[in-house]
Amino acid sequence: PQGQTKKLRQPIVVVLGHVDHGKTSLLDKIRSTAIAAREAGGITQHIGASIVPSAVIEKISEPLKKIVPIKLAIPGLLFIDTPGHELFSNLRKRGGSIADFAILVIDVTKGLQDQTFEAIDLLKSRKVPFLIAANKIDRLPGWESNPDQPFVVSYQNQSRRAKEELERVIYGIIVTKFSELGFQTELYTKIKDFTKTVAIVPVSAKTGEGIPDLLAVLAGLTQQYLKNRLIFAEGPAKGSVLEVKEAEGLGTVIDTIIYDGIIRVGDIIVLNGKNGPIITNVRSLLMPAPLSDLRAKGTRFVNVSEVYAAAGVRIAAPDLENALAGSSIYVANSVEEANELSKTLQSE
Ligand code: GTP
Ligand code: NA
Ligand code: MG
Repeated sequence: PQGQTKKLRQPIVVVLGHVDHGKTSLLDKIRSTAIAAREAGGITQHIGASIVPSAVIEKISEPLKKIVPIKLAIPGLLFIDTPGHELFSNLRKRGGSIADFAILVIDVTKGLQDQTFEAIDLLKSRKVPFLIAANKIDRLPGWESNPDQPFVVSYQNQSRRAKEELERVIYGIIVTKFSELGFQTELYTKIKDFTKTVAIVPVSAKTGEGIPDLLAVLAGLTQQYLKNRLIFAEGPAKGSVLEVKEAEGLGTVIDTIIYDGIIRVGDIIVLNGKNGPIITNVRSLLMPAPLSDLRAKGTRFVNVSEVYAAAGVRIAAPDLENALAGSSIYVANSVEEANELSKTLQSE
């Protein structure tokens, strides 16, 4: 399928929120749900990211087909986790800058906290569209869990008390606080115009309730409103450096998110370094081996010869010792172009 005109790439979805509100758990649940639906295509692990393909999204959100179109035009969704601890605000900024869309995770037992507000400021300043995942609904007083069910199904089975508890959080806390911040928010099932209202999707990263709704709303919104932004360009890659690290046998490598174009082994790349722009050649492109846990020590990598956006890829190349995390990274067609690009980078 690569190489078609007007092909869309995966929207890059960054997960933000206060520490311990459940960002990583939510992504883990999405991954395990996707793996369980793997006859439809599984998921692909990327460096610093995971892609859930459209076939899996369609399968998981089948019970909600009125909300998500049966045939998705996007090839899937690329998810990036971020740490909530305030020391990592730089990384969140980096994540925020390449995000096509964001999930703001809010623990319903805690409400909005410091890094929730910080994330809202970031989304506002970068104009990143987002939805709110109201997480940990399994912990609401009286909530009866219906594992892996759509929220709309589970909600029907709840007692009056549990429904009231959820409404107290959604309307008494989330909608009220956001309106003070200038955002109109609403439970996603009640929204008429998604361009004016931020969707609230109740979920549990523990039981999987609401995951079908979350994927359906994400796919539907990104596909409908971001289409122009997602048209895949056949040209040289553009990306962002998430991390600079030492890798055994490879020296200094950079973990990147490629948001546009194609990168190949041997390509000239340009990125910012501590002592000015770096121009070098890609020695190898590394992707995590299928289904290996990215956070486990000793992740296995496989060498690939080319990578198409959107993707998370580790790049090995000479002269990366002083590379700067947070820098943009560009593939150049020639040394002259690389020199031009390095001037652009200096003004970043
Ligand atoms: P940082 O990366 O440190 O910012 O935290 P995080 O937002 O990634 O939160 P994490 O996924 O680490 O979850 C924090 C704690 O909340 C863990 O103990 C999880 O097991 C728990 N947790 C996350 N989601 C849920 C949920 O939906 N229900 C319940 N009951 N617990 C949850
Ligand atoms: Na945590
Ligand atoms: Mg986490």
